[in-house]
Amino acid sequence: MGARIIGTGSSVPKTCLTNADLEKRVDTSHDWIVSRTGIHQRHVVTQDEDILDLMHEASLRALDASGLRAEQLQAIVVATVSGNYAFPSTACLLQARLGLDNIPAFDVNAACAGFVYGMSVAHSYIKSGDYDRLLLVGADTLSTMVNWEDRSTCVLFGDGAGAVVLDTQNARSDDRGLLSTVVESSGALWQLLHVRSDHRQTVDQEGSHPKEWGIQMKGPELFKVAVRALSEVTRKALDKAGLSPADVSLMVPHQANLRIIRAVAERLHMAMDQVYCNVQDYGNTSAASIPIALDEAVRAGRVRPNDILALCGCGGGLTWGTSIVRW
Ligand SMILES: CC(C)(COP(=O)(O)OP(=O)(O)OC[C@H]1O[C@@H](n2cnc3c(N)ncnc32)[C@H](O)[C@@H]1OP(=O)(O)O)[C@@H](O)C(=O)NCCC(=O)NCCS
Repeated sequence: MGARIIGTGSSVPKTCLTNADLEKRVDTSHDWIVSRTGIHQRHVVTQDEDILDLMHEASLRALDASGLRAEQLQAIVVATVSGNYAFPSTACLLQARLGLDNIPAFDVNAACAGFVYGMSVAHSYIKSGDYDRLLLVGADTLSTMVNWEDRSTCVLFGDGAGAVVLDTQNARSDDRGLLSTVVESSGALWQLLHVRSDHRQTVDQEGSHPKEWGIQMKGPELFKVAVRALSEVTRKALDKAGLSPADVSLMVPHQANLRIIRAVAERLHMAMDQVYCNVQDYGNTSAASIPIALDEAVRAGRVRPNDILALCGCGGGLTWGTSIVRW
């Protein structure tokens, strides 16, 4: 029994910060940011915006694309690390916004790999036969967790939400849908990327902090682990589905850094026209990056029936994983 993605949607905040805007805040340059990361701009929330607004809008767009009504959903899974409450989960708050009741709703915390972890949960739910129709959302506002005086991190992150509706409709009769998912973690590497949960501040709030405040990252070490982990886990997920990298029509990777994406494609012997990139427009939107990229690719006509997609992500934890989908 397979699960098909029958609708995608996404949403980003209205405020867009270009590299030129960041040159005015910290000692950096457009050329450095583009050459080291590929990022040109990022959208960030301000004090009057909430992660829930982004999640809600992305979900409504995905539902609209799917042709389903919210009331037909049987479960809501949200991948995020930036909810406003320790509890309730952002998924429960989204459930209330959607006017739904008496279905399971919960969050998954796997940072930038969260969407793939969510796919793993959705896959298991659907395979078990317990649920037929799920809403899976990836949403984060990591701009609220960076130190806006630390040039080594503040240029990297943006905010947003992406959503998919998964359904078993027509998926029992053919081999289209979610083929395999492999997720892995390495808690031993947690210090390469971390942030305390009480370090929150939007870009338009006043306040100066010590260097230890906000997201802490060992960039060069993380870069190497990300390239190795993403290429190895993508091979494992393809193996599990009986496929090889040459079968992939489109890889939709987590959009952290264009150099990481290129290095992973190279290790998998994939051409860059097999890879979807939009890191230049949004920066690293954490759990939202894969579903935002997928939504753009679908709406741009880059995904056709029976295409093989590899959705892969890596993030704090460390966590990583890949889902293989026959569209
Ligand atoms: C962060 C990253 C872009 C930095 O690129 P890098 O080439 O490794 O650069 P380094 O961190 O070694 O820094 C090189 C120099 O640039 C400087 N630098 C760092 N940020 C800068 C910025 N925004 N503007 C200008 N210079 C900057 C550093 O201070 C350092 O200067 P020094 O040599 O005088 O000490 C890169 O390591 C990376 O992308 N890592 C993975 C990050 C990631 O993907 N995180 C999320 C995973 S989900």
